[in-house]
Amino acid sequence: MTTPDKVTILTIQQKKQQKQPITMLTAYDYPGALLVDQAGIDLILVGDSLAMTVLGHPNTVSVTMDEMLHHCKAVARGAQRAFLIGDMPFMSYQVDPRDAVRNAGRFIKEAGMDAVKLEGGREVAATVRAIVDAGIPVMGHVGLTPQSAGKLGGFKVQGKTATAARRLLEDALALQEAGCFAVVLEAVPSPVARLVTERLDIPTIGIGAGPHCDGQVLVFHDLLGLFDRFTPRFVKRYADLRQPVLEALQAYRQEVESRTFPGPEHSFSMDPAEEAALLKELAS
Ligand code: KIV
Repeated sequence: MTTPDKVTILTIQQKKQQKQPITMLTAYDYPGALLVDQAGIDLILVGDSLAMTVLGHPNTVSVTMDEMLHHCKAVARGAQRAFLIGDMPFMSYQVDPRDAVRNAGRFIKEAGMDAVKLEGGREVAATVRAIVDAGIPVMGHVGLTPQSAGKLGGFKVQGKTATAARRLLEDALALQEAGCFAVVLEAVPSPVARLVTERLDIPTIGIGAGPHCDGQVLVFHDLLGLFDRFTPRFVKRYADLRQPVLEALQAYRQEVESRTFPGPEHSFSMDPAEEAALLKELAS
């Protein structure tokens, strides 16, 4: 059942028009989705970043459609209000637009997502058009596109020259023209993000794109300090949960090893007569 205040594409379009910031976060499982949703975040992205933050891969390219769908289903069970976006994994949309439409459809039909996201500019515009024509909302993603980090020469800031910035703007315009409802700008200089945001009618969602975008996204594990393999400069940690979680796990281990846990307050007692009968039985 849809909740009355469920976020839709119209909600975020209105937020852009009224210059109200749009909030977005990743989530990858049921408890994470519950928390993000209860925090009142507008958009939840089940990002392919889960390949690294949850599955332990060195990059995002190896995550599969089935793995993405598995996590999306869990998130859909946890979120009531937020608009849910499933990230299309590498090679699920690049080969053939018909495959792309089929795979996008699985995010909606099987996994309970409201929309999909895919990476790339003008080169994916025809694919975006095909998915939108099938009735599926699409979020674009330009700038640093991790699935093609190899082609970009690594995880580098994009659009740093006037020529590169112009190309980035043209890519974003091509995505808008193809029917995207919003576009992520990742790792681009603030003036470039500002220009793109001013030129587009659809909302821009920044990550490493400065303060002028219509909205902001961060990765759940980065925000909470749960992923410390590397931390990009654009991440702000709002909590450092790794240490308290580690301390709790160590305290548990020590209490089990010293037989302090479980104590009487965590154990079930028996009717005294039944207990006496049991002790008699054990003694015989
Ligand atoms: O996969 C992801 O988490 C993303 C965000 C960083 C936008 O694509």
